[in-house]
Amino acid sequence: MHVEQKKARVVAFGCQMNERDAETILGLLEQIGYGRAADDIGADVVIFVTCCVRENAENRAIGNLGDMKRLKAQKPGMIIGICGCMVQQEHVREMVRNRMPWVDLVFGTHNIHRLPELMARVEAGERVIEVWDEAHEVVEGLPASRAFRHKAFVNITYGCNNFCTYCIVPYVRGRERSRRPDDVLAEVRKLAISGCREVTLLGQNVNSYGRGLPPEDDGGLWGFADLLRAVDTVDGIARIRFTTSHPRDFSDEMIEAVASCSKVCEHFHLPLQAGSDRVLKMMNRGYTSRRYVDLVGRIRQAVPGASITTDIMVGFPGETEADFQATLDIVREARFDAAFTFIYSPREGTRAASMPDQAPEAVKRDRIYRLIELVNATAEGVNESLRGRVVEVMVDGPSERDPSILAGRTRSNKMVHWRPGGQGGALAPGDLAMVRVLEPRTWTLHGEAADVPREAGRVD
Ligand code: SAH
Ligand code: SF4
Ligand code: F3S
Repeated sequence: MHVEQKKARVVAFGCQMNERDAETILGLLEQIGYGRAADDIGADVVIFVTCCVRENAENRAIGNLGDMKRLKAQKPGMIIGICGCMVQQEHVREMVRNRMPWVDLVFGTHNIHRLPELMARVEAGERVIEVWDEAHEVVEGLPASRAFRHKAFVNITYGCNNFCTYCIVPYVRGRERSRRPDDVLAEVRKLAISGCREVTLLGQNVNSYGRGLPPEDDGGLWGFADLLRAVDTVDGIARIRFTTSHPRDFSDEMIEAVASCSKVCEHFHLPLQAGSDRVLKMMNRGYTSRRYVDLVGRIRQAVPGASITTDIMVGFPGETEADFQATLDIVREARFDAAFTFIYSPREGTRAASMPDQAPEAVKRDRIYRLIELVNATAEGVNESLRGRVVEVMVDGPSERDPSILAGRTRSNKMVHWRPGGQGGALAPGDLAMVRVLEPRTWTLHGEAADVPREAGRVD
């Protein structure tokens, strides 16, 4: 008798860590017999990989879980699961336990590898809630059902030890653990063999990679710079990215490694958070605005054409107008290629949530609008300098809006849309193409196929 294969859907919110975890979750589900579902209604199991970094991220997940109640009423056999950062918080688990009876499965960020066993219990009719408060050692060898063939995320560290006072990540992702260099390299090699051309090394603070790892046989220790140099030698990989960097821990040796490794892309995502030293101190960031600007200068000097992007927050408790002006000053001085801007969101259990002088909503809104305006003007200015220039782009595929247009990214991580030339039809995801920038915009560059030979190495 033919039995139709059951289908699974895994929906990730939040950062690249969750996107990567979603691939492991789907890989584990495939291992126990599930196929991929194209949408919620066609799925027999739907799992949400949640984020709690800001209140609106939590609200989005709660909204999606709410929609599942209706869907499950139509399709009672469906299994609904929730995992990820949100459910590491006790109060969220209580809410799900008591007020969302249609959720069948809850697991956390530290026990993803237990999914096959947990699913077996759910399939047998049990409601399973299993979350571990602490991480044990790194689990290697889990399967992954990758979102793309030509590019992939590779974890290098898990967790975070920094305890920035606003941030919930160290509480929900546990203490920092580095993967062994051999394990990272084995994953990159395997990806390269399966057709991957670009890897992004992931960690909350990639610059602290290697801390706590045992010495190698020769007694040497591995740091982030060593890892970059090693990954740079893997055949088949054309581009190496890394995120996120912590400005406090970005050493000259690491800058030098980026400069000297030909595959490592000249893009630095360096979250600034705030420009006022008083606020940076209250945030426990461990650097001053001068040190930040100095780092940007050293990067620009060592890595010509480097693009620098950042994260900035407004409305931290006690932030005055003068503090905010200091943030604007650094945006002008650092000339960011792009910035993600956030309104401070108090997170239960963090130190900043109980600090005095929480800023009123109206003040936060006013500041974020002014910040976005400046950030956009700066990005437009930076991108304008690329007008008429030829850049090397890695093809991602046809643009979502217009399939006759290709989309891809420069080494500096700028999104490019262009009309392919004569051989355009033959371009596949992961291929490198030369594109002339005709119309730079704030967030994307628009261009045309450039009839020049592809030069090895850096172009933009
Ligand atoms: N480990 C990374 C990023 C973690 S979260 C780093 O240190 O850069 C990504 C961004 O979310 C942060 O850079 C910060 O700008 C923002 N963020 C974190 N907690 C926040 C909060 N409570 N409210 C608003 N934004 C926050
Ligand atoms: Fe959060 Fe700071 Fe760690 Fe980044 S470095 S995850 S902002 S605590
Ligand atoms: Fe969110 Fe967790 Fe990432 S809280 S930002 S998904 S580490």
